[in-house]
Amino acid sequence: MNAPFNARAAALRDPFCAFVCDDATAEILRPIAVEHGWAPEKVNKGGLRNAVQTLSVSTSPAILFVDLSESGDPLNDINALAEVCEPGTVVIAAGQVNDVRLYRDLIASGLQDYLLKPFTADQLRDSFVHAQLTISGPRQNEANNDKPHVVAAVLGVRGGVGASTIASSLAWLLGDKAGRSTGLLDLDVHFGTGALSLDLEPGRGLTDAIENPSRIDGLFIERAMVRATEKLAVLSAEAPISQPFLNDGSAFYQLQEELRNAFESTVLDLPRHMLVQHPHLVHDVHVAVVVVEFTLAATRDAIRILSWLKANAPQARVIVVANKIGSGVHEITRKDFESSIERKVDLVVPLDVKAAAQAAKLGQPLAKAASAARLSQPLAQLAQMTTAAVAAEGEADDEEADSSVSLMAKLNLKTLLAKGPRLTKAKA
Ligand SMILES: Nc1ncnc2c1ncn2[C@@H]1O[C@H](COP(=O)(O)OP(=O)(O)OP(=O)(O)O)[C@@H](O)[C@H]1O
Ligand SMILES: [Mg+2]
Repeated sequence: MNAPFNARAAALRDPFCAFVCDDATAEILRPIAVEHGWAPEKVNKGGLRNAVQTLSVSTSPAILFVDLSESGDPLNDINALAEVCEPGTVVIAAGQVNDVRLYRDLIASGLQDYLLKPFTADQLRDSFVHAQLTISGPRQNEANNDKPHVVAAVLGVRGGVGASTIASSLAWLLGDKAGRSTGLLDLDVHFGTGALSLDLEPGRGLTDAIENPSRIDGLFIERAMVRATEKLAVLSAEAPISQPFLNDGSAFYQLQEELRNAFESTVLDLPRHMLVQHPHLVHDVHVAVVVVEFTLAATRDAIRILSWLKANAPQARVIVVANKIGSGVHEITRKDFESSIERKVDLVVPLDVKAAAQAAKLGQPLAKAASAARLSQPLAQLAQMTTAAVAAEGEADDEEADSSVSLMAKLNLKTLLAKGPRLTKAKA
C-alpha cells in the first residue's frame, strides 16, 4: 500500500487462486474466499497438476492454495510448482499425508502452510490470516519512517574471526532490542551460517534470487526471507559446493535495495572475497563493521581492508571490532595492532568459548545466549553505534581524523615483523 514497489508488483497479480482435487475442499474454500473479497471462481479443480500448467502460462497470484491429494511425490511436485510460480506468491498446500518430515520439508522448500485434510473452515481462515500477515508485514514497516533505514556490512579481515557471529548478534540486537524490523542478508552463499546459527532452514530464496535476479521484488523478499523472531528475518543459503554462481552481482545489489524497502535495518554478512568481485555492495552502507583479531595476518589485512573501505565506501562509518580477545598472550598486542592500522579499535569482544558453545547449542545469536555483561555490553554498544550512525549522518567524516592507512601503516607492520622471535619466524 505505502510501498511503491510492493504496490506495483501486487497490482499485477490476482489476490488469490486455488487448485483443489475434490468438491468437499472446494466447498470449504469458496465461502471463505468470498469473506476475503476474492472471486469464488478462482477455486479451480485439478489440484497441483493443474496449478503447474496454469501458472506456467499466467501470472502467479498473491496467495495460492494447492491440493496435493493426487500427488505421488508432494515434495518433488512442490519444487516443480516453485519453478513456474513467481517469487512473492504465498503458497498454502493441503494434503492427506500426515508425516512430520514431509511437513518440515515442504515448509523448508518455501510453503507457507500445510493443512492436513480434512481441515476445518477455521483452520483455513487462520492460514489465510498468516498468509496476509506475511504479505503485509514488511509494508507496515515501510510506512514507519521514524527510523531511517540503516545498512550495516559486517566483514572479517580473516576467515573465522567471528564476523558471522557478530553479524547475527548485531541483527538480533537491532531487531529484538532496538525494536527495528531487521533483515540479515548472509552473502556467504555456499558456506553461510546465518540460518544455521539461528536454528533455521535457509530455504531456497537466496539461490533463487542469484539465479533469477529479475524475479527480485518486494513480494519475493516477503516470501523468501525466513523469519527468526518477530523483528528479525534472514536470507541465507547452503548452495551445493559443486554449484558455482557466475553472476555480475546485480542480484546482491537488488536484494539490498529490496531489503531497504522492506525493513528498518539491514545487516550484511559480507565475506571478504565478495569485496574483490562486487565492490558496489558497500557503496550505500552506512556502517562497515570490520572484525579483527590480534594476529599478524589480521593486522596486514585490516590495513588493506580499511584502506579499501576509504576508497570504496567513504560514506560509511567504520567500526573496528576485535573479537575473541582472551586474557592470555596474542600474536600482536592491542597497542601494536592499533599503531599499525593507525586508528583505535572501537570495541573489544572477549573470547568466551562457553557462551559461544551455548549459543550454538541453543541456536541463538551470541548476544542473546550470553549472560555475561563483558560479552553483551560491547555487542550492545555496537548496535547503539550502528543506529547512531544514521541518526547523525556524516559522522563517518569523523573518521577523516584517522589519517589514511598507507605507507606509514605498512612501515609499522614491517616494524612488527621485525619484532620478537615468532614474528621473525612468520616473516621467514
Ligand atoms: N567472542 C567469541 N568467543 C568464543 N568463540 C567465538 C567468539 N566469536 C565467535 N566465536 C566462534 O568462532 C567460530 C567462527 O565464528 P564465525 O563463523 O562467526 O566466523 P566467521 O568470521 O564468520 O568465519 P568465516 O570466515 O567462515 O565466515 C564459531 O564457532 C563461533 O562460535
Ligand atoms: Mg562467516
